[in-house]
Order: sequence, then C-alpha cells, then structure tokens
Amino acid sequence: MEHFPVIDLAPYLEVSGNLSNDPDVLSDQLPPELKNLCSEVSRTLRETGALLVRDPRCTVEDNDRFIDMMEKYFEKPMEFKLLQERPHLHYQVGVTPEGVEVPRSLVDGEIQEKLRTMPEELQPAIPKGPDPKWRYMWRVGPRPLETRFKELNSEPVIPEGFAEWKVTMDSWGHKMISAIEVVAEMAALGFGLPKDAFTSLMKQGPHLLAPTGSDLQHHGQDGTVFAGYHYDLNFLTIHGRSRFPGLNIWLRNGQKVEVKVPIGCLLIQTGKQIEWLTAGDCIAGMHEVVVTKRTLEAIELASRQNRSLWRVSSTLFAHIASDAILKPLGHFMETPFANKYPPIYAGDYVEKELSVINLKGNNGDAEA
Ligand SMILES: [Fe+2]
Repeated sequence: MEHFPVIDLAPYLEVSGNLSNDPDVLSDQLPPELKNLCSEVSRTLRETGALLVRDPRCTVEDNDRFIDMMEKYFEKPMEFKLLQERPHLHYQVGVTPEGVEVPRSLVDGEIQEKLRTMPEELQPAIPKGPDPKWRYMWRVGPRPLETRFKELNSEPVIPEGFAEWKVTMDSWGHKMISAIEVVAEMAALGFGLPKDAFTSLMKQGPHLLAPTGSDLQHHGQDGTVFAGYHYDLNFLTIHGRSRFPGLNIWLRNGQKVEVKVPIGCLLIQTGKQIEWLTAGDCIAGMHEVVVTKRTLEAIELASRQNRSLWRVSSTLFAHIASDAILKPLGHFMETPFANKYPPIYAGDYVEKELSVINLKGNNGDAEA
C-alpha cells in the first residue's frame, strides 16, 4: 500500500465538533478541501477495503507502549498464559491459545469455490489447519443496560504481575475507537449520508480490543499462515503498525496487495457490517496474514537487535450496537443490491456468522 494515500485526520478533527448533523447546514460549513478529503475516505474504502490514517491523538509512543506490554505477555511461558484462558466463556475474554481459531477458508465451501477460480498469483495461502496465533480479548467501552442480546457476564481478565494492564488496554482501546469514529463520520459524509449515520449506530457496540501474538521463532517459516484468508464480520477494524509485516489485502478489483503501514499511521479495514449499511457499495475487505520475505527480513533484523520475535497486532474490532438494525442507509436503500441486505439486528447477524464458523461468542472476527 505504499502508493496509498495517508489521510491526516487533524484538519477534520479541528472542525468536527462544530459541524451540524443537518446535511444542508453542514454542506455550507464544510470547506471544499475537507469535502474532498471525506470523498477520498469513502472512495478509498470502497475501492480498497482499507485506509491508512494519521490521528494526532494516537502517537507512536502509544502504539509502542501497547505492543511492548503485549510482547512481554506473549513471551511468558505457556502455563502462565493458560491461567488467562476462559474456554467455558467461549474465549470472550482473556487469552485464546494458538491452534483454536479456525480460518474461514478452511470451513466455508463458498469461499473455497471462489478461491479455485482465482488466477494463481492472486490466490491466498491455503492454511492446513487452525491459525497458529494467540489472541487476547479485552472489551472496550460501555455496554447497554437493556439489550435483547444477553452476554455472558464475563469479568475482564488481568494477568498477574501486569500492573499497567488495565490502563494500557483501556487507553489504547479508547484511542482506536476515537480514530474509527472520525473515519466513520468522514466516510458517512463522503457517501452522502448524515455525519452521524454510522457513529450513532456504534454507540454501546460490543467493541473488542483483540491483539494477536504470533511466535515467529517457532512459526517463522516462509509461507506460514497466521490468519487464513477471511473477511471481518464487524463494522470497521483498526490496527496500529505491527513490528513485523505480513498482511495481504485484496482490493475490490481483485488485486492482491501487501500492506505497508508507515510509522505513526493506523490501518483501517472494512468489515461486513459497513457492507450491509451501504448495500455493498463498500464491501468487506478480504485479507490474510502470512510470513513473507519482508517478514523474514524483519525477523532477521529483530534477532540481530535482540528484540522480541513475537508478532503483535494491535487490533480493535469496532462493531455496530447489537440492538441496532443493519440495513442499507439513506440512498443506499434505492440501489439494485439493497435486497441482498435485508434488515437484521446486528446482534443476530454476528451470532449467525459465528455459528457458521462454529465459534459462537468468540471474538466478532470472522477470521476465527
Ligand atoms: Fe481479520
């Protein structure tokens, strides 16, 4: 993605608080350069399923503090990490060991069919079994008092000896949600919707901070698949920059691209819920995480510098609230594919998706 634009959120952030939610009033308030920027956001999401942004509130230091802590955690012995495992709560909180999450491409016949028709150079790596990556689940943000989707009463899990855990997780989580909210507003404007068209549906959503840890010392061979080809079932996914590359995405035109996230930038990816809300104008981006030549170079350098060989992704899944209804918004209701996206509670949609991949209640990421 080195040719992809990086959208600086600062100019929009400066004016966003004063913008009216009435599209006609707002249209006069927004200077042309910001209108163009919003169009660039929605166009890039539509064409690529991904977006690089810079948010002045999310610094390199924030990302480093988070990744440092997660590296320290994933480096702990297996016995220690298994103390944070909650299989009886369907891994909704705490740690999920490697070998538990199953890539969708392994179980979904429709995807397998699609893969066979792709030209070889565009085909994803085919995983042979469950993903060899660990994950940690941490809920972020307030939950609804009244909901038709009762969640298990899952206390957050904090590993012993990590005094900074709660503050670090919560602060990174909130920063990532803030960045997503700005992008969601800009995208809404770019799509010709009211500025809060998406963000109003995100309030009290089951957002999940779900960093992964991949042990490159033991699974660092060329071609190892850490996350098999899949889409995310949530609204938008955001990550800080990982210290080891390896993420491939597929653009709408079918092109396969290795993502390069510049220092200080965040990467956003489209999930199935934004596809629903835009009646497929913006589709959920397909992606995979695989050990590539560039990953091997980064492993080599990290070994020389005596740094951690755990690849940490600082992933946050932003969701539409479970009690909100997913359906094409505004003018997207009039588009030819709108009937492919019938109204459904976001909570029902998520449960349906997870039951396909047999991980009900797992993590809201269809890569499971
Ligand atoms: Fe994913």
